[in-house]
Amino acid sequence: MNMFMEQPEFIEVDDTLGDKNASQSEHGISISIGTENQERTYHTLNDGKYLLPNDEVREATPPSLVAEAATAKSSDESDGHQRLDTQHQIQKFILDGKLQLSPIPDSFSGNVLDLGTGTGIWATEFASRYPSSTVLGVDLSPINPTFTPPNCSFRNEDYEEEWKYPAPFSLIYGRALVSCLKDPRQTFATAYKHLTPGGWLELNDPIFPFKSQDGSLEEKGKPLLQWSEEAQAGSAKLGRPFADVSKYPAIMEEVGFVNVTQRMIKVPLSDWPKDKRLKEVGAMNMRHMLNTVGALKKIWTAGLGYSAEDADAFMEKVRSVLIDRKVHAFAVITVVYGQKPNEVQS
Ligand SMILES: C[S@@+](CC[C@H](N)C(=O)[O-])C[C@H]1O[C@@H](n2cnc3c(N)ncnc32)[C@H](O)[C@@H]1O
Repeated sequence: MNMFMEQPEFIEVDDTLGDKNASQSEHGISISIGTENQERTYHTLNDGKYLLPNDEVREATPPSLVAEAATAKSSDESDGHQRLDTQHQIQKFILDGKLQLSPIPDSFSGNVLDLGTGTGIWATEFASRYPSSTVLGVDLSPINPTFTPPNCSFRNEDYEEEWKYPAPFSLIYGRALVSCLKDPRQTFATAYKHLTPGGWLELNDPIFPFKSQDGSLEEKGKPLLQWSEEAQAGSAKLGRPFADVSKYPAIMEEVGFVNVTQRMIKVPLSDWPKDKRLKEVGAMNMRHMLNTVGALKKIWTAGLGYSAEDADAFMEKVRSVLIDRKVHAFAVITVVYGQKPNEVQS
């Protein structure tokens, strides 16, 4: 078990940071603070279902290059496609390199379904790590990764429509789908139906809004707190309310899953912690969030009625909070997994 899964109640703050903001020279990374002027594109299958742009999906890069980019000292994160892949590196970091927490054997050879696969980075890495498995990634946007292992394929499909898969799955995985589930119970029930007895469903999502352990988010970081609250409110107005991730375990049990396990992991939103690993993941998360803020702009313009200029001005304030080390904010990532009973009438 790594320290991310056994975190102390109170994360110690690095008091050597002073009043300075996180800067380019300290991390060797370029932090773009500015307006979101990039022309974004959106999925066309079942138009309007997913609120974020898909330019990041269409331009997916192979896992090896992504890993390089994540560790490079001077990577330019302004390209949209790196947002999801940075998120993937953060996830691997906090899960100690694991791609899932469901207890599958090293020799795992089952069918796997990755719901809302995005750039396909999780699916391709899983297929490489478990070469005897067969992995299928589905997404509203067509996925065209440059690198695809032979045991991995992708389909341009809506997982909220009927699943027409001939074989059942041993693992169904969904990461960062908090804004992508109209009815979690319905999706979990569909997954249950399409699992083999003994198969696993695993979800991995952040809980909104963000938090701080010392009130600094509420005092000095109000725009960031407001952003995480309005992201929920705005997406509900656009007909895609964020799922209540804290209810996932109960819903999974109601649907019939057993051995339901939940892990809640605090992930700092900048490099404010004293602990070296938490600091490192905080710096990665800050870069990720600086890009995510702009990617979600549509929620403020189309959902909450902000003008483009007002949305840009607000996002500028949010980005300023993200690099302010006096704001000790964190997201709570929740991993929930459960098993279809071995003895079951499907
Ligand atoms: C935040 S991204 C997460 C991507 C990926 N799971 C990851 O962790 O890198 C959510 C993805 O779900 C897809 N999506 C949303 N609703 C969907 C649906 N109903 N059917 C298929 N894909 C969907 C979006 O197109 C997007 O690529």
